[in-house]
Amino acid sequence: MIDRPKHIPGRVQAAHEISKQFSFEMACKDRTGALLRTLAATKPGGQILELGTGTGVGTAWILDGMDSSAHLITVDRDKDTSDLARQVVGEDARVDLIVADVASWLKEYDGAPFDMVFVDTWRGKFIDRAELLRRLAPGGIYFGDDLLPQPTWDPEQPALVDSFLREIVEDSDLAVTMMNWSSGLVLAAKQK
Ligand SMILES: C[S@@+](CC[C@H](N)C(=O)[O-])C[C@H]1O[C@@H](n2cnc3c(N)ncnc32)[C@H](O)[C@@H]1O
Repeated sequence: MIDRPKHIPGRVQAAHEISKQFSFEMACKDRTGALLRTLAATKPGGQILELGTGTGVGTAWILDGMDSSAHLITVDRDKDTSDLARQVVGEDARVDLIVADVASWLKEYDGAPFDMVFVDTWRGKFIDRAELLRRLAPGGIYFGDDLLPQPTWDPEQPALVDSFLREIVEDSDLAVTMMNWSSGLVLAAKQK
């Protein structure tokens, strides 16, 4: 079985180019991106959130799966990488790129509950997870990556990941599947 995505959308290719050019090494992998696209396609008209925009690789995959009435908010505290993602996204009115720290942004968010969240920062995964899950709609998808060792990990990350892996499967509000695939994924749906 060939599990690499056959078609890489043009905007994803552009985001990879920019990542290479600016030595951004934390972009999501294409297998992860293909799954993101699939998940986004299950939420027509959905409200979708990405925590950690980076250079826009995941953003581009999600946009490729979304229909014309779905809406994506993506948040990153780094204005420089966010500006690069803005080049990737162009004039797509379905997405709002926000430059903010996830911690303060989440506290202040008072919009519609999310139908899907892609958690690609520590915040929402290792920290502030309950805060984020409160904003996930019933049936909403919680999706995170980088749970297998990555060259970009900080020294304290293995311990954080170990705690996360222990805790997330015990969360009785979530139907959780751990995936030893791509960079190591968690795919969960909110049941309550
Ligand atoms: C792994 S990268 C995101 C990659 C991107 N989602 C992709 O699919 O290619 C993590 C990003 O999170 C951002 N970040 C880290 N901590 C943050 C925080 N507390 N608030 C907002 N952004 C944060 C970093 O600036 C970085 O761009």
